[in-house]
Amino acid sequence: MSKVAAMFLLFLSLAMGACSARRGMPYTQPILAQEKGVLEGKMLYDRYCNSCHPQGTSGLGPAINNKPLPGFMIRFQIRHGVGVMPAFKREVISREESKKIVAYLKELRRLD
Ligand code: HEC
Repeated sequence: MSKVAAMFLLFLSLAMGACSARRGMPYTQPILAQEKGVLEGKMLYDRYCNSCHPQGTSGLGPAINNKPLPGFMIRFQIRHGVGVMPAFKREVISREESKKIVAYLKELRRLD
């Protein structure tokens, strides 16, 4: 990743951290997938989620690429788990990382 992109990501994380956690992401202008952290989101997804939700489809867990779940719900699910799905603590998946996973899932949905 270029330095500029890295700086941008850092800035974006800080800017989003300042907003309320409950809101979605009120982007006022289109931002490239790369800058939303989609690629890092995919790496994190592959590591933590793919075993049960292969490529967003159903496996041990239900499909999650076909539902318009808002980002905060997905992040809640990651943090708290439900039923068989384990909870992922902040030390495992940070706040910023969970946002990248959501960005990736939204991208999967868009491509559907
Ligand atoms: C050990 C298997 C497992 C792993 C790993 C896992 N999940 Fe799940 N997930 C499940 C199961 C099972 C459910 C259904 C839970 C229920 O409703 O009882 C679920 C449900 C969900 C839902 C809600 C779907 C709905 O229909 O409302 C979301 C969103 C989700 N998972 C996202 C993730 C993400 C993101 C990750 C990675 C950080 C992840 N899951 C990792 C098994 C898993």
